[in-house]
Amino acid sequence: MKEQIHIMLSEEKVNARIAELAKQISQDYAGRTVHLVCILKGSVFFTCELAKRITVPVTMDFMSVSSYGDDTKSSGVVRLVKDLDEPLQDKDVLVIEDIIDSGRTLSYLLENLSNRKPASLRLCTLLDKPERRVKEVKVDYTGFEIPDEFVVGYGLDYAQKYRNLPYIGVVTFEEE
Ligand code: IMP
Ligand code: MG
Repeated sequence: MKEQIHIMLSEEKVNARIAELAKQISQDYAGRTVHLVCILKGSVFFTCELAKRITVPVTMDFMSVSSYGDDTKSSGVVRLVKDLDEPLQDKDVLVIEDIIDSGRTLSYLLENLSNRKPASLRLCTLLDKPERRVKEVKVDYTGFEIPDEFVVGYGLDYAQKYRNLPYIGVVTFEEE
């Protein structure tokens, strides 16, 4: 099967929304330092673009989880592939995700992180597919709510490809 990509959210739209989110976050964290926890690899582009536009002091750390499953669905079994370098205790932690789908990855992750006693713990996602939710997660900042379609670009992959696209595209498959 060969995949085709159609633009869903242009680079301009995504960047404009990220600027709005950064403004909101800068207001909400006024007088504090926000500790961004980037969930590799999908959130890398979003985290960088967001961080560049936040005006309060920012620190960053990175973590990688993998959910066993095929390329387009998560199984709900989450494995910690790379842990954070630093403790979260007493930090104002903002988790940065690329997309929330079933919510399984995030509900595991948020519980894991809250056990580390941060001063506060919030969640920011570029994309949200609310129709697909299986596990409830409280999202504090959302870039875009999107319909139940498989998307790539801006960090998101299909079989590790297309992360570098500067826009969000929908993947469709056709017989060769
Ligand atoms: P969840 O555990 O089902 O919420 O899945 C979240 C993870 O699945 C995301 O961090 C992505 O890695 C992946 N994922 C879910 N939907 C998409 C999509 O449309 N495109 C690319 N990756 C996706
Ligand atoms: Mg991901």
